[in-house]
Amino acid sequence: MAGGAFASSGADLELVGLQKRFPGFTAIENLNLTIPAGSFFALLGPSGCGKTTTLRLVAGLEEPTAGSILIGGKDVTSTKSFQRPVNTVFQSYALFPHMTILENVAFGLKRRKIADAIPRAHEALQLVELDHLAHRKPQQLSGGQQQRVALARAVVNRPALLLLDEPLGALDLKLRRQMQLELKDIQSDVGLTFLHVTHDQEEAMTMADTVAVMNKGAIEQMGSPEELYELPRTAFVANFLGQSNLFTGAVTEASADSMIVDIRGIKIQVPRRRAQRHSGEVTIGVRPEKLMLLTSEPTTTPGLKVLGP
Ligand SMILES: Nc1ncnc2c1ncn2[C@@H]1O[C@H](COP(=O)(O)OP(=O)(O)OP(=O)(O)O)[C@@H](O)[C@H]1O
Ligand SMILES: [Mg+2]
Repeated sequence: MAGGAFASSGADLELVGLQKRFPGFTAIENLNLTIPAGSFFALLGPSGCGKTTTLRLVAGLEEPTAGSILIGGKDVTSTKSFQRPVNTVFQSYALFPHMTILENVAFGLKRRKIADAIPRAHEALQLVELDHLAHRKPQQLSGGQQQRVALARAVVNRPALLLLDEPLGALDLKLRRQMQLELKDIQSDVGLTFLHVTHDQEEAMTMADTVAVMNKGAIEQMGSPEELYELPRTAFVANFLGQSNLFTGAVTEASADSMIVDIRGIKIQVPRRRAQRHSGEVTIGVRPEKLMLLTSEPTTTPGLKVLGP
């Protein structure tokens, strides 16, 4: 990938108190988010939680009810969509049906009167392994192939900020994993800022530097993939990222380094440093792969210990 020829640097994205109300429905509550330049940021959440709406606000396709959007430190809240340094790959990948694949990919470059639009478009198509179909029309391609063209079309413009709305949704698992690696390479090669929306937790966890888990129009938790997996702050996050065994009960004792939680008569000892709350009703989460059943008392102290009823 000849990143140098296209290189532009990524930009910070900042969302401040962002809110979006549709008639009778608030899709985005109060979104505050800073995405550092050059990072790969994943917005992860269930269907209907407001991911696409967030991207549409950033792209300027939707006007926020309140709050502001800054790109590279510049307030773009009232800047027109086409004047923002942003490209979007949408969930539905509308290509121009009357143009060839090559013309579709070269379109943005040609519009900006860039001299080597065609070679660059070929290069972007090679990246998504579709250069051999450059002269076909979109309707002669499969859904997954069209999705890869849409990706090539966005990447070729080297926007400071690339918004990706489930860009790999139509691909089979093998191609999806391969494209995930390609996307990650493109991003680190050119240092663009990627805001990637997905409801595939594995995709978010393997690709992103930072993951934000969204639930009902608000961010429930944000951090590195490891942080979210190791220390989910809510039951929603624990269940959305991988699987977790959750037990709810009251804290009956708390000392400097551990707490005892009574789960319907069964007492569980948990390390205090991993707890969010130290009194009242709490929920304990145990990842299945971290459970070990022992027939005798262990010599080392386990993280969590069942003391028996
Ligand atoms: N124009 C609109 N008018 C009213 N409600 C809307 C409008 N657009 C979106 N919504 C609602 O806002 C919520 C968030 O929608 P959004 O498209 O952002 O979800 P999403 O997180 O992208 O979901 P998915 O994973 O299914 O794509 C949904 O409940 C949706 O019905
Ligand atoms: Mg969506």
